[in-house]
Amino acid sequence: MGDGGILELGAPVLAPRAAPRHVALIMDGNGRWAAARGLPRFEGHRRGVDALRKTVRAAIEFGVDYLTVYSFSVENWSRPPEEVQSLLALLHRFIRNDLAELQANNVRVRVIGSREDLAAEIAGLLLEAEQSTAANTGLTLVVAFNYGARQEIAAAARALAEEAVAGRLRPQDIDAEAIARRLDTADMPDPDLIIRTSGEQRLSNFMLWQAAYAELLFVPVHWPDFSRADFEAAIDEYAQRDRRFGGLATADRRAKTAS
Ligand code: FPP
Repeated sequence: MGDGGILELGAPVLAPRAAPRHVALIMDGNGRWAAARGLPRFEGHRRGVDALRKTVRAAIEFGVDYLTVYSFSVENWSRPPEEVQSLLALLHRFIRNDLAELQANNVRVRVIGSREDLAAEIAGLLLEAEQSTAANTGLTLVVAFNYGARQEIAAAARALAEEAVAGRLRPQDIDAEAIARRLDTADMPDPDLIIRTSGEQRLSNFMLWQAAYAELLFVPVHWPDFSRADFEAAIDEYAQRDRRFGGLATADRRAKTAS
């Protein structure tokens, strides 16, 4: 990508069982990273893109199938216009400069979030990133842009209501699966691991439906400082967790099967 040329990435280094299939990232703390250094907030976001670039490379190396990044929330439009502009410019530059490396590394780009009311230029850019990488079969990089989980769920509810009114769907057929199929993430696995940087411990309207059984990890570093080692430590921590999905702990399950 932009700063380092094309990387030759080898086989995943972690055993397939240990690696989460889908990792989602709340890249928080850019502003505080910049403030702590007496720099403008823009500089924090700019360094945040560098951290994202490294994280995409690491995700490929670790054998992650889906990496979702919260790049711009529906609430972010309320930030000062200069900051909104700088975030849009960074997204623009990321797609323009990094698409070639993403292509070379077989990365497929997907975008979630509302496309309604987006400027034609930005909507076109997102579509170009998706279309030009649609045939790639490696990591899927899911960019959450103009994204809000409540808005996504409301849109799914609206779609279901429209189908019911049109007589194509009976209310009794609406179940969790029917809702999931109408979300932006319809054909993706739920995130296994959600990482939020900067020490804040909340989801902030990010993947609320999909997070039902995700492991949550809150790391104290600000996003621009999030390194390959931090990512690897997060994946190691994930591998230690016992995911029960409402069932029994692994040890109890083994005991039950043995008895
Ligand atoms: C949160 O930090 C981060 C954001 C609102 C934007 C994240 C965006 C990027 C890393 C770059 C753009 C993305 C792409 C895909 C090119 P904050 O500003 O809320 O930090 P603070 O809480 O410390 O103020």
